[in-house]
Amino acid sequence: MARQLGFARVIFFAIFLLVSLANAQKEKIFDVRNYGAKGDGRTDNRKAFLRAWSDACNLKGTSRVYIPRGVFMLGSVEFVGPCKGPIVFLMTGTLRAPAGPSLNTQQWITFRYVNKLIVKGGGTLDGQGASAWPYNTCSKNNNCPTLPISMGFAFVTNARIKQIKSINSKNGHLSFFACKNVNVTNVELIAPAESPNTDGIKIGSSSDFRISRSKISTGDDCVAILSGSKNIDISYVYCGPGHGISVGSLGGSPGDDNVSGLVVKHCTFSGTDNGVRIKTWESPYKSIASNFTFEDIVMDKVRNPIIVDQTYCPHPPCSQQTSSHVQIRDVTYRNIRGTSSSEIAVSMDCSKSVPCKNIVMSDINLSHLGQGPLKSSCSYVDGRFYGRNNPPPCF
Ligand SMILES: *[C@@H]1O[C@H](CO)[C@@H](O)[C@H](O)[C@H]1NC(C)=O
Ligand SMILES: *[C@@H]1O[C@H](CO)[C@@H](O)[C@H](O)[C@H]1NC(C)=O
Ligand SMILES: *[C@@H]1O[C@H](CO)[C@@H](O)[C@H](O)[C@H]1NC(C)=O
Ligand SMILES: *[C@@H]1O[C@H](CO)[C@@H](O)[C@H](O)[C@H]1NC(C)=O
Repeated sequence: MARQLGFARVIFFAIFLLVSLANAQKEKIFDVRNYGAKGDGRTDNRKAFLRAWSDACNLKGTSRVYIPRGVFMLGSVEFVGPCKGPIVFLMTGTLRAPAGPSLNTQQWITFRYVNKLIVKGGGTLDGQGASAWPYNTCSKNNNCPTLPISMGFAFVTNARIKQIKSINSKNGHLSFFACKNVNVTNVELIAPAESPNTDGIKIGSSSDFRISRSKISTGDDCVAILSGSKNIDISYVYCGPGHGISVGSLGGSPGDDNVSGLVVKHCTFSGTDNGVRIKTWESPYKSIASNFTFEDIVMDKVRNPIIVDQTYCPHPPCSQQTSSHVQIRDVTYRNIRGTSSSEIAVSMDCSKSVPCKNIVMSDINLSHLGQGPLKSSCSYVDGRFYGRNNPPPCF
């Protein structure tokens, strides 16, 4: 018996060795330290990171860019593909941006034209935002610096972003443009409630996108779904503090494209300004925002739990020559419960030119944290409701 067991162990070990060897051959590691990077919190590691990326990108087969523990100072970098094989960007340490408002780029770290990318490893992006936020003056001053987003992805396909943390971004934390089939899981994005424009995740012109099991506590939208996005699924996300999960703002420019197929479910909003929001500018630019489902959502002390704002104007005065031309339709709100800190828990301020169509509400059970009953407020809404609803619907 003992001999048999011993034999089985040997076989098992041999198989294990073979599998590991095969894996080692398949996956090559590019440790940034071998390119001169130093995790001492002082050395600028731009060149070392770019050289490691370049070698990894040129390898046929899977390569890993490895950032070990330590604090790696990093100026702005752009990791550009297409690459010859899949790439894992394995960050275990902290990447720290230079202090101050500007890096002379829109994004601090950018991945562009990469197919099959994985960013993971439990590491942290530290944007050093506190040194940049006082320079966020663009709403008052045209001569303002461009504050960079911490990590941006453009034309990236078949990607997974998981187990990373981003703190104190100068502008937004993560941004995606023209990406397809991206899964974001177990990320933590943190900045103070009063930090300006520190959106958690911005998604534009992208499709087949999933965000799940993540915590976003920031000074602007937890997730913003922008023009041209399709099939976005958000689940098990905790948002707060922040401005909620928003579609838009839409209709801000003539090229604005349709947004369709959004599901937000099993999410919690805590102490946020908004829960689920759709916002559009008053402008002549036409597009369609349709097929959205918001369900199984908990609101905890949220100021505007359900809000559609088609007269969006964050820094008045706005031009407002016309009502919004973004058509909002086929939107379902189902099983939304918890507390509202303001009296108007459901606010649907739709467009006079293109009223909201086919809005469905069922089982909305909110209660007021202050005095008196909750109310809904509607203008230009066509909708139906089912089940018990508090506040009572206004359409
Ligand atoms: C993302 O998740 C979905 C659903 O689990 C899966 O079908 C898809 O292949 C995943 N994409 C990537 C790039 O891992
Ligand atoms: C938006 O959707 C409408 C209706 O489906 C379509 O006619 C229009 O071409 C779409 N816009 C763009 C830019 O694809
Ligand atoms: C609505 O969105 C869901 C989820 O993204 C998608 O599966 C479905 O096909 C869409 N329906 C239509 C009619 O576009
Ligand atoms: C609504 O929520 C309150 C407080 O959480 C709860 O007591 C009540 O049973 C709920 N009503 C329905 C119809 O679910």
